[in-house]
Amino acid sequence: MIEKSDFEPYIVCFACNWCTYTGSDQAGVSRMQRPADVRIIRLMCSGRMEPSYAIEALKNGADGVIIGACHLGDCHYIEGNEKAVRRFSIMNTFMEQYGIDPKRFKLWHISASEGAEFTEHIREFVSELKKIGPNSRKKIAAKEFKKLEEVVI
Ligand code: FES
Repeated sequence: MIEKSDFEPYIVCFACNWCTYTGSDQAGVSRMQRPADVRIIRLMCSGRMEPSYAIEALKNGADGVIIGACHLGDCHYIEGNEKAVRRFSIMNTFMEQYGIDPKRFKLWHISASEGAEFTEHIREFVSELKKIGPNSRKKIAAKEFKKLEEVVI
């Protein structure tokens, strides 16, 4: 079993191409240090975020999921980020029904020039997740993956 102390959270970030994705890139170019286990998946707009993406990531063992959106009023597709905000609050109510702690799920508004903010948010989220501990679904997902491997190999 993974102890909380040596647990490194695995995070999936669905990032809008025009803001958070570019902000994370800017953080990288500026050599800002952040925890390594953050996988960024680029979406053209946070409004493209399907609720099932977050649920599937968490069901399959991600310890945390982030939606990275443009600031309100800055969406390149007018109101995609407003849709994302509405969906986020609905998704939050579903999380508990799936046995997932809603604290594992975040929506941040990070612009392309806010690489430092992105890095800081990630650090805070990682320390919050370390306090919560590993996603209990991780073990189930690993078992299911092992079964799948046995069938495929
Ligand atoms: Fe960034 Fe819509 S274009 S949230």
